Amino acid sequence: MNDRVRVLIGAQWGDEGKGRVVDVLAKDVDVVVRFQGGANAGHTVVVEGRKHVFHILPSGMLYPDRTCVIGNGLVIDPEELKKEIGELDPKPEAIGVKLLISYAAHIVMPYHKKLDALAEEARSANGSGPIGTTGRGIGPCYVDKYNRIGVRAEDLVSPEILRKKLLAALQEKNPIFEKIYGVPGFDLDELYELALGWGKFIEPYLGDSTLEIDAAIASGKNILFEGAQGTLLDIDHGTYPFVTSSSCVSGGASIGGALGPGRFNQVIGVVKAYCTRVGEGPFPTEERGEVGDKLRKNGVEFGATTGRPRRCGWLDLVALNYAVKVNGIDSIALTKLDVLSGIDGLKVCDAYEIDGVKYSAFPNSATIIQNAKPIYREMPSWSDDISRCRAFGDLPKEARDYVRLIEDSTSVKVSLIGVGPGREDTIQTGF
Ligand code: IMP
Repeated sequence: MNDRVRVLIGAQWGDEGKGRVVDVLAKDVDVVVRFQGGANAGHTVVVEGRKHVFHILPSGMLYPDRTCVIGNGLVIDPEELKKEIGELDPKPEAIGVKLLISYAAHIVMPYHKKLDALAEEARSANGSGPIGTTGRGIGPCYVDKYNRIGVRAEDLVSPEILRKKLLAALQEKNPIFEKIYGVPGFDLDELYELALGWGKFIEPYLGDSTLEIDAAIASGKNILFEGAQGTLLDIDHGTYPFVTSSSCVSGGASIGGALGPGRFNQVIGVVKAYCTRVGEGPFPTEERGEVGDKLRKNGVEFGATTGRPRRCGWLDLVALNYAVKVNGIDSIALTKLDVLSGIDGLKVCDAYEIDGVKYSAFPNSATIIQNAKPIYREMPSWSDDISRCRAFGDLPKEARDYVRLIEDSTSVKVSLIGVGPGREDTIQTGF
């Protein structure tokens, strides 16, 4: 069996730096597969000083002669996709990159985005509180998928089916807009024309990703499944309801990337050296004062998709150990270690106190976790600039101890350390 079928996921609340790790790994990978989420993601890759942000496209698009797959588990906003492909430099055709979009991926329609915004407004107004979604229509699109009334990528090139599906969708949605929210609904003809236009654009990329991936494995190719968001935003395993609407954990790769669980060989968890979160919801190690501001400033912690300032705080080993278990992480890619240089009073959380009880394990209960208070371990800090370190031994002792603490706590090897934003700013100790 090929021993190079890997899945890479975020081990925290997203924004761990997955894009740059995929970009580093893509050097030795033939096929990169995105398996969930949509344009809510923002994967930043910096190559030769130039910043590229991928929202829907897999982060392997900048390497020549690769196949990049948008799997069945995604929800695609065709306008975003068009924009992203248009902005690609170099162009995929020029460097031999093949983009394949699964027939079965779902399409985010304008009514999904409108519903997303209206539902957030309603939650703010009725006291249940907003989730802080990215406003990209993700939740409503997945709702339609599971309600079996979604529009799939393949429908965009089948005019009759498309019209029928849009008619059925609008018969359900328009009364919601008009009667519940008191806003105008959508016009069938306009939507149909728009979607047909998307179909023309998407057609050259459409295909059967299941067969493609199977054939790639049969011919001994290396495949990397790229997750979006993070474990604690997972619909089942995250801090529900402050989560996204897809399976961001490694198991999601099997369903959204179309490959049986037994065929994966390695699970790489991407872990930021501290924690961040965008949107609402529990975040036990959040630092709202000076420390949080410094982490945000040093780490440029502003959303790649929405520009929102990210909430920042200390590394949470309780949550990380949970992510290790839920995903079966057997290798850690640690990002942004350089951001901790010069941060005094460094701390990591290795237990919670919840209603007078000490918890060493992360409780998957929304009710319990909301009252978690961190119990910290103080760590010696370092002030040297580590961005030029290229070997583990180049790091100051305090930084090495920080990495070793993560390994000891999780019993997982740290195989890659990010010490700066660029492709080359990496210490690789081997996957
Ligand atoms: P949605 O995915 O737009 O529905 O948003 C649900 C929650 O997930 C919100 O708290 C978002 O801020 C968060 N979220 C969605 N995508 C990302 C991401 O790529 N990085 C970090 N947070 C995200």
